[in-house]
Amino acid sequence: MTDLTPTASHTRGASAYPPVDPARDPRLAGRKLRRVVYSEQEIAARVAALGEEITAAYPDGDLLVLGLLKGSFIFLSDLVRQVVRPLQVDFLVASSYGDATVSSGNVRLLYDPETSLGGKHILLVEDIVDSGRTLQKLVGLLGERRPRSLEICALLHKHIASHLTLPVRFVGFDAPEEFLVGYGLDHAEHFRHVPYVASLAA
Ligand code: IMP
Ligand code: MG
Repeated sequence: MTDLTPTASHTRGASAYPPVDPARDPRLAGRKLRRVVYSEQEIAARVAALGEEITAAYPDGDLLVLGLLKGSFIFLSDLVRQVVRPLQVDFLVASSYGDATVSSGNVRLLYDPETSLGGKHILLVEDIVDSGRTLQKLVGLLGERRPRSLEICALLHKHIASHLTLPVRFVGFDAPEEFLVGYGLDHAEHFRHVPYVASLAA
């Protein structure tokens, strides 16, 4: 039988690893950082506070936390562990195509949540709100499924979206208008695993 006794290699905590200097972080594959925008510690503190806010905001009813893939995967996994009440987790994958002039019918769900939304509090979790186009369309689609309530939680909000009918209720940080990577956010699928949020030098 396989011995499942923990060994040193998978029991050591993060503190066992030497701290990484963001200027020479091997995760960046040689790309240069412009700056670290939110450190690991800042993110952890903010996510804990958001968890408390969300816990307090839903005194009753079924809560379904819906992560919008892929960007929300790290944020969501940290966030739900800070919410102290029963909840369900599911994900959705949206594909948007066309440009700003396409109608709202043109966001397709590539992966539709298997969990039913009817009668539940839905908390849609997004990595970053930029133009807000994706969210705007998803809110319409999800609203048709008769949830008890529908709210958005975004780690980052650039506050340039001017046409959101549903304001983002829970915001981690008001983000600068830079292209950001890390903590789930990517550039061509790179940098999602970087534990802080950074902007890269051109
Ligand atoms: P929106 O529809 O313009 O709000 O775009 C939202 C999506 O674009 C996000 O879910 C991200 O996947 C991506 N995105 C927008 N801004 C950034 C950024 O600064 N870094 C990485 N991805 C971004
Ligand atoms: Mg992306």
